[in-house]
Amino acid sequence: MGLVRDLADLPQGCGLGDTYGYPPDTTEAEAWSIWMQPGADRRSIDVAEQYGVVVGTALLTPNAAGLGDHICNAGWMVLSEASGHGIGRRFAEFVIEQARDLGYLGMQLNAVVASNTRTVQLWLSMGFEIVGTVSDAFRHSADGLTPVHIMFRTL
Ligand SMILES: CC(C)(COP(=O)(O)OP(=O)(O)OC[C@H]1O[C@@H](n2cnc3c(N)ncnc32)[C@H](O)[C@@H]1OP(=O)(O)O)[C@@H](O)C(=O)NCCC(=O)NCCS
Repeated sequence: MGLVRDLADLPQGCGLGDTYGYPPDTTEAEAWSIWMQPGADRRSIDVAEQYGVVVGTALLTPNAAGLGDHICNAGWMVLSEASGHGIGRRFAEFVIEQARDLGYLGMQLNAVVASNTRTVQLWLSMGFEIVGTVSDAFRHSADGLTPVHIMFRTL
């Protein structure tokens, strides 16, 4: 199963402790269970492939249960070796389109690490706004307590 291996290997996602809250020592089995949770309604997991190799993965899921499930949450990871070639932007556009097709009315990113400035800029350029910032909400592996942004866009 290439996906399991690639998912666990995605160093930008789990390995560095500077973008997602997953602990850097997350094992392959844990990564699988975090990202590939059993399907809820309107949930999807996608992969980006290049030359037959999985270079990224995206998760689309309701942001809240029940009366909040018309707003989705999404996450993306692109292999560091493949990063900077437009895959992340195209993949994000694909997931936003998919979210629209599934009937979601908005997309909320709950914890965009403020020092992940390139990614913050990417989401801003794709129509997301910073609706709030929570001080010291992320324990950055190098910088310590770091703010996170909540970002939102309508679909
Ligand atoms: C965020 C992420 C998915 C983006 O994927 P990517 O394939 O690297 O993104 P792209 O190549 O499409 O680049 C996105 C933008 O960043 C810019 N960029 C790319 N490489 C850059 C670099 N080394 N330095 C500065 N900016 C850079 C690009 O100019 C691009 O902007 P543009 O489309 O206006 O030119 C990827 O970097 C990643 O997995 N990061 C770690 C996990 C993460 O932060 N996930 C999101 C959590 S909210």
